[in-house]
Amino acid sequence: MKKLIIYSSFHKGNTEKVAKAMAEAIRADLVKIGEADGVKLEDYDLIGFGSGIYGGRPDAAMMSFIEKLPGNLGKKAFVFTTCGFGKSGENSVMLQELRRKGFEVLGGFACRGFTDYGLLKIVGGVSKGRPNEKDLLDAKNFALRFIEYA
Ligand SMILES: Cc1cc2nc3c(=O)[nH]c(=O)nc-3n(C[C@H](O)[C@H](O)[C@H](O)COP(=O)(O)O)c2cc1C
Repeated sequence: MKKLIIYSSFHKGNTEKVAKAMAEAIRADLVKIGEADGVKLEDYDLIGFGSGIYGGRPDAAMMSFIEKLPGNLGKKAFVFTTCGFGKSGENSVMLQELRRKGFEVLGGFACRGFTDYGLLKIVGGVSKGRPNEKDLLDAKNFALRFIEYA
């Protein structure tokens, strides 16, 4: 079974670190959101969707990519997000949209990611050093739950 991870990570590369850790763990192909249009999703059985959280939402480019997908592709999916200070439940936006599209969403993962965006610079940023080694190990273990689909 072929696996793919599509991710968006334009701020600090935090989500990219998580995406790479997961992809390595389950031997998934890895593609950035800007390059995902050319990918033949039909070739894959399991697809992971990951994004940073910006203004309380996943990247708009990721959401519009998901919204434009044809319905009922018959694929399994998982979602993951990184955010500076928000709630992990923010990945539910992607999860819900994927379910609406007919994906079988197997689960979601979230962890903190460093940010010094805007006024946070004054205090040197928040979630320093995140994702850290433990976050990346948790991400790998999360993804490995789906290895049975491999
Ligand atoms: C424009 C912008 C808006 C952000 N909004 C939020 C937010 O609403 N909630 C939050 O917890 N973090 C917020 N952050 C922090 C990011 O979610 C965090 O740094 C994330 O790990 C970035 O992922 P990336 O490095 O993969 O792009 C924001 C960062 C930026 C640049």
